[in-house]
Amino acid sequence: MPDSIVDDKVYATARQPIRHDSAIKHVTGGAVYIDDMREPVGTLHLAPGWCRTYAKARLDALDLTEVRAVPGVVAVLTKDDVPGINDVSSSFGDDPMLADGEVLFWGQVVFCVVATTREAARKAARLARFEVVPGTPLVTVADALAADSHIMPEYRFGRGDVAKSLKDTQRRLSGQIAVGGQEHFYLEGQVAMAVPGEDGDMTVYSSTQHPTEVQHTVAKVLGVTEASVTVETRRMGGGFGGKESQANQWAALAALAARVTGRPCKMRLDRDDDMIMTGKRHDQVASFDVAYDGEGRILAVDLDFASRCGYSADLSLGVNDRTMFHADNAYFYPNVSIRSQRLKTNTCSNTAFRGFGGPHGVIAAERIIDSIAISIGLDPLEVRKRNFYGPGRDVTPYGQKVEDNILAELVGELEASSNYWKRRTAVRSFNAKSRILKKGLALTPVKFGISFTLIHLNQAGALVHVYTDGSVHLNHGGTEMGQGLFLKVAQVVAEEFGLPIDQVKITATNTAKVPNTAPTAASSGSDLNGMAAQAACREIKARLVDFVSMEYGTPADKIDFRDSQVIIGNGAVPFREIVKKAFIARIQLSAAGYYRTPKIHWNRDKAEGRPFLYFAYGAACAEVTVDTMTGEMKVDRVDILHDCGKSLNPAIDIGQIEGGFVQGMGWLTTEELVFDGQGRLRTHAPSTYKIPTASDVPEEFVTKLFDSPGNREETIFRSKAVGEPPLMLPACVFSAVLDAVASLKPGVIPPLDAPATPEAIMKAVHATRRGGV
Ligand code: MTE
Ligand code: MOS
Repeated sequence: MPDSIVDDKVYATARQPIRHDSAIKHVTGGAVYIDDMREPVGTLHLAPGWCRTYAKARLDALDLTEVRAVPGVVAVLTKDDVPGINDVSSSFGDDPMLADGEVLFWGQVVFCVVATTREAARKAARLARFEVVPGTPLVTVADALAADSHIMPEYRFGRGDVAKSLKDTQRRLSGQIAVGGQEHFYLEGQVAMAVPGEDGDMTVYSSTQHPTEVQHTVAKVLGVTEASVTVETRRMGGGFGGKESQANQWAALAALAARVTGRPCKMRLDRDDDMIMTGKRHDQVASFDVAYDGEGRILAVDLDFASRCGYSADLSLGVNDRTMFHADNAYFYPNVSIRSQRLKTNTCSNTAFRGFGGPHGVIAAERIIDSIAISIGLDPLEVRKRNFYGPGRDVTPYGQKVEDNILAELVGELEASSNYWKRRTAVRSFNAKSRILKKGLALTPVKFGISFTLIHLNQAGALVHVYTDGSVHLNHGGTEMGQGLFLKVAQVVAEEFGLPIDQVKITATNTAKVPNTAPTAASSGSDLNGMAAQAACREIKARLVDFVSMEYGTPADKIDFRDSQVIIGNGAVPFREIVKKAFIARIQLSAAGYYRTPKIHWNRDKAEGRPFLYFAYGAACAEVTVDTMTGEMKVDRVDILHDCGKSLNPAIDIGQIEGGFVQGMGWLTTEELVFDGQGRLRTHAPSTYKIPTASDVPEEFVTKLFDSPGNREETIFRSKAVGEPPLMLPACVFSAVLDAVASLKPGVIPPLDAPATPEAIMKAVHATRRGGV
């Protein structure tokens, strides 16, 4: 690796495979989620009311008489009850909390019932009478393209003369791939509880990745200052991007109900409502036109993404930008043009989902590579390697130089450990003998940019208190959604003070402790909050070192924190004793830490800069068996090699890698969102929407961390972000399915769309047999 920084220091707590602080509580019921919190006396419950018939309609009148008559109903909220601004969007101002004169998608909340029990609220919510004038909904990408319906202007970047290169080339191919959306299916659905205080104050417990934005939204809706609202989040039962912006509405509704009734109010969505009303991963259609040489090396790429954003903008700007940033995946495009169209439809407002648009770019890139390989009869892995970024071929389509490239090394290692070439031969001979069952094999890389592309989000704060018994209270702006962030940051703090992990108290994220935070997203949680917490610890340590140095007459560089002790020259004093002495000497034992990511800058208008501090890399190899009579598919074996730099916690990281892989595999193989022609989501429960279960995990599943010398950038203990990149590793499963189907007829590119459900596979099988479409 070029310019690597080898950091082999042995740490006591950091880099150790410590189990998740809540692991036992998660499985024994001891972990308190919002719906487990003891409800204050008099708590009321909310249920959303909506028009169950239309995805697009003018709302002329609303009769709530029967709703109000249900015993237990205390209040019914409509847009007219909003004292502030009726908007729960993160920035564009186009997400009414309660519908305003029109229904824009099937599931839009029109009113909200507040009752003494959830059952009463839900029953009452169905009794409204709507007077509506229905319109024709735009449902699909094709509908929106035909109607020229865009939620924001298209965006393009690239370089070189793509048109000329495409025209001059001997070898050119074009294609299209439709990639489906994905429901987050967090185990804990959207939920919030609001408790009114004095003087219009409001405390909101929200299952959100972005407590600060919930705070801002509640303040905006209630028309009070941000300082009047406190938001607390101890943990989420999964967020996956679905609680980055989409927690706002439910928290704001609970807060409005609390304001109107003067009582604590809880909003917990029923699973079906949650799936119908909240945004999902975007679905996109990618079209490409590629020029390549006889070796399979790409000369020019023209890529166009058409993305279904839904009825409002939500986070679609950033999500679709990230699709463009990852349309290269690991490959160098000498001449390139990337265009992204963001379409407005009458469907739920699509939002963040693990990978934040990146996965669509990756799938498009891999389809381009597979298509070239099939067209010229080369092994896809060979074509992949020939197109990797490398010396002299190291600038991305958005102008950032790839400085930390470990693709060749990492992929080479996986190629060997997965026995790729031997298995390629075995797959070929299996397919030669087997008529119905066909095997496929694929090894795909991932290169994922780390940093928020909205530059100002790359900052974090932390608050650390040392108490006089030597125990430590830790708070920071990051949220815990199962990914182990709280533990990782606690490891950093324990490491800094030389304390065992159980001396560091993990506490709920709270906007009154650490203000103005970014969402926990873009995989940056530990990078940002780990550094902020380290800064706070170092400030306290510096004060203690000064104190100890004076008190014991020892130079500062002979003072260290280790094994629950303060090492002072040749002696040592227990940490707690030093802390007590420091307190008596009136030394401040609390500090706020702050961090902002260095080096990054991005000018979106000029498409210039360095949006990412670094890249995370990984690769995976999958072998699948496809039944070409039924379309059934089985993943036989998966090998993963993933780069976490120097992992902050290898146990947690392996969990993130395997979990991310399986979640991405679900997206690409079984999870299918079906909207009918009227724009109604027909798949709004686990009975119709298939997420992976334990039995879908590949039988042979080998996950290894890449033996890294450490992140070449100065991240927290040289670690790398891990939350999202592994979601794209199962591109290998999708490519392996393509490989299996392609074995039916050499030279024909199967038109396989994602998810590769049995239906999609059968369509691809028939089209391939017919000679391709
Ligand atoms: N892991 C679990 N168990 N639950 C989650 O909700 N969300 C993912 C990922 N891993 C998620 C998860 C997403 S979308 C992101 S952006 C990161 O975690 C966020 O956390 P981090 O920045 O601390 O990695
Ligand atoms: Mo993750 S999609 O950035 O919340």
